[in-house]
Amino acid sequence: MTSPTSHSIIRTEGLSKTYPGADAPAVNSLDLTVEQGEIFGLLGPNGAGKTTTAGMLTTRVIPTSGRAIVAGVDVVTHPAKAKQSIGVVSQTNTLDRQLNVWENLYFHGRLFGMGAAESRATADQLLEQFQLAKWAKASVYALSGGMAQRLMVARSIFHRPAVLFMDEPTAGLDPQSRLALWDILRTLNAAGQTILLTTHYMEEADQLCHRVAIMDHGRILALDTPAGLKRSVGADSIVLIKAEGDHDALAAALSAALPDVTKIRTVDQGLEMHVRAADRILARAIAAAEAAGFDVADISLTEPTLETVFINLTGKELRD
Ligand SMILES: Nc1ncnc2c1ncn2[C@@H]1O[C@H](COP(=O)(O)OP(=O)(O)OP(=O)(O)O)[C@@H](O)[C@H]1O
Ligand SMILES: [Mg+2]
Repeated sequence: MTSPTSHSIIRTEGLSKTYPGADAPAVNSLDLTVEQGEIFGLLGPNGAGKTTTAGMLTTRVIPTSGRAIVAGVDVVTHPAKAKQSIGVVSQTNTLDRQLNVWENLYFHGRLFGMGAAESRATADQLLEQFQLAKWAKASVYALSGGMAQRLMVARSIFHRPAVLFMDEPTAGLDPQSRLALWDILRTLNAAGQTILLTTHYMEEADQLCHRVAIMDHGRILALDTPAGLKRSVGADSIVLIKAEGDHDALAAALSAALPDVTKIRTVDQGLEMHVRAADRILARAIAAAEAAGFDVADISLTEPTLETVFINLTGKELRD
């Protein structure tokens, strides 16, 4: 997918960070390429190293070793220059509470070296675009979480950055604001904006990102399109069976009777099976369980998700 002629907007080589006093690196020798026009996701559980990675790429965290090039600029040797090409929406609310909504935008432009007239016009235009115009003179205290988030996104793209970094953009947002933000990000991306986002929501990575890197303990465990990652599970369906009794014996009976089961593991009150060909699988699974003397209390069929991929890679759940 990454050819020498494609336009890499982010490139890291052996990028690592070990915080002072830590016994393990927060980010461990990361080699990553993000192409122009992508929405690229870093997906991983708490402490995976997502924020540290975003921090290094946005000059906020100084790497222990390795290199990172963003929009053609080395972020370590030329942080001020790199910042001109970078937009950031961080995990916390970083709006200036001394300033009203409009001023939060206007002064951002001035800070990035834009003239007064251009900053004024851009602030007005962005407030319209992000449906915040009627809040222009309001205190940022008056904004809901979703509105504050929209304002931070508007501010982050004010200086037309080559790449927009968003750290857990929808953490703490209600479902409706989350969907609204996804729409905003898709619209920005459709207009050409490259976006790197971090998330621990598998749905967010799945629905929004062109490619996803699954991270844990500072390393990338897998990197592909969401569809490619899910295909890598090697199963078309996931079957969950709940039954009383000895789950090891049930697993053995099901494996023996169902040749298309690729993997089987114990979960709360039952078994989870990965199945390659799902033809009549529920009926066949029930029949096999009953033939082995088990009463099936409940059975359900789902498709693999990025959570399944993560469990396959690490043996643990994404959120625990
Ligand atoms: N400023 C810091 N000083 C020391 N250790 C840190 C610092 N920031 C992060 N860490 C540690 O580095 C590791 C990676 O943390 P990081 O915040 O990058 O993970 P994350 O994937 O963003 O997690 P979360 O989902 O909780 O935001 C963790 O073990 C964390 O405790
Ligand atoms: Mg984080």
